[in-house]
Amino acid sequence: MTTHFHPALGEAARSFLSREHHLLIDGRMVESDSGRRTDILDPATGNVIATAAEASATDVDRAVEAARRAFAGPWRKTTPAERTRIMLRFAALIETHADELAQLECINSGKPLAACRNGDVAGIVEMLRYMAGWTTKMGGETPNVSLPGEWHAYTLREPVGVVGQIIPWNFPLNMAMWKIAPALAAGCTIVMKPSEQTPLTALRLGELALEAGVPPGVLNIVTGFGNPVGAAIAAHPNVDKVAFTGSGETGRRILQAASGNLKRVSLELGGKSPVIVFPDANLEAAAAGVCSSIFFHAGQICAAGSRLYVHERAFDQVLDAVTRRANGMKLGHGMDAGTEMGPVISRRQLDRVMGYIASGQEQGATLAAGGDTTGERGFFVKPTVLTGVEPGMKVHDEEIFGPVLCAMKFSDDDDLERISAAANSTTYGLAASIWTKDLNVAHKMARRLEAGIVNVNALSSPDAALPYGGYKQSGWGRERGFDAIEMYTEIKAVAINLNT
Ligand code: NAI
Ligand code: MG
Repeated sequence: MTTHFHPALGEAARSFLSREHHLLIDGRMVESDSGRRTDILDPATGNVIATAAEASATDVDRAVEAARRAFAGPWRKTTPAERTRIMLRFAALIETHADELAQLECINSGKPLAACRNGDVAGIVEMLRYMAGWTTKMGGETPNVSLPGEWHAYTLREPVGVVGQIIPWNFPLNMAMWKIAPALAAGCTIVMKPSEQTPLTALRLGELALEAGVPPGVLNIVTGFGNPVGAAIAAHPNVDKVAFTGSGETGRRILQAASGNLKRVSLELGGKSPVIVFPDANLEAAAAGVCSSIFFHAGQICAAGSRLYVHERAFDQVLDAVTRRANGMKLGHGMDAGTEMGPVISRRQLDRVMGYIASGQEQGATLAAGGDTTGERGFFVKPTVLTGVEPGMKVHDEEIFGPVLCAMKFSDDDDLERISAAANSTTYGLAASIWTKDLNVAHKMARRLEAGIVNVNALSSPDAALPYGGYKQSGWGRERGFDAIEMYTEIKAVAINLNT
């Protein structure tokens, strides 16, 4: 295949891209049932960089059967310590191939290379090592029962079984590992469907897992479209749990599909996260944080700080700093040195984001920065700031998933109840960020905000130990931390009557 690779792309990444990619089922790369293929693009150029196999429902059946066999067989028989060793080898292999993985992630997702290397690849290594530690530490309890006579009762923590994992295109490596690592630690086997737009790094991870000693069939990767592949996983009678990250609309479809066999469901469905800046805060730091939260990866982050609330005394200063940074941001190819923001993932996403910017202006918001596309090719949207935004406007209420910040004011008349009511006034509840030096205000606000993650004087807290997930319509369940292990395990209560 002749493709136009970015000149900075290394040999390992080029050679991977040039391969014919297949499905990973039962430890082997296999042709899809249909033989059909999808083009994979570099969103910064619109060029085709590879093609991926388009799986069918029949391929999903094969993958589920392989996962079931591996669950009943080799994976079930590994000791926790063996699983830890395998996961640590997997982590070490990822480190060995860090540059290749970072370049593949960069060229397919559009994120700047340094972020892919220091954020995504480094992050998945940490996630694996963190989760690898739980294998030998998770376990049951011995509850004190009050039944008549003498009893010995205990609980067992057991793997939930075969899990389906469906992930989006914004963080292909991270989203894969946030789901793979706790599932492996818990002893589950996996059928993963990456996004049809960004399937490459998940396939590479699958190969590295095999090399690390993850037995065939434990981690199957089935590439292709939401319909039929994701839909078949969600509806499959032999899948015990489905974990999904993506849009609310697709999350609802998955819930319905899962109702057939009542499989366990966890959902991470994005947000419309508020950033609240009190006048005593370090305003420069707050403005920098606001920009990195909404403009980093062109706003395609579920926890993006997309609604900014600033006290009126600080509003002009913060807005000025934010728009200056927005206007000065260097957009470009993620592989180019100095690029601060890359493209959005696709033409469709670009149109969607531009549609929101237009609707905001039609509904009365004012453009303070950006508002336009840029670049001769690729899918670039300028960092955009809207003021005069109010509840009820689509740009206020809905997840845009693009580099669009809505800036609003509050005043001395607004007490913490009113400020938090405004911050809580969407159907989402994923993340929130508070900027103040006043500890009382910070703690009081943290309790008042309806969000699964609250950061104070920080825009994000990417640590494997911290649970991640949403209140309200941002989802069900938590990833990262021990909560993620809980999502991949069942508890069994065993009670023994000692008096017979
Ligand atoms: P999506 O939610 O449709 O796609 C996410 C994953 O679900 C992909 O792997 C896709 O193939 C799969 N999928 C699609 N339909 C399915 C079905 N019926 N059954 C099972 N799996 C299915 O997201 P999409 O369409 O790529 O983006 C649309 C909007 O969703 C974005 O503009 C953004 O607002 C939001 N979104 C939010 C994300 C988040 O992390 N919060 C991630 C991706 C999208
Ligand atoms: Mg969709």
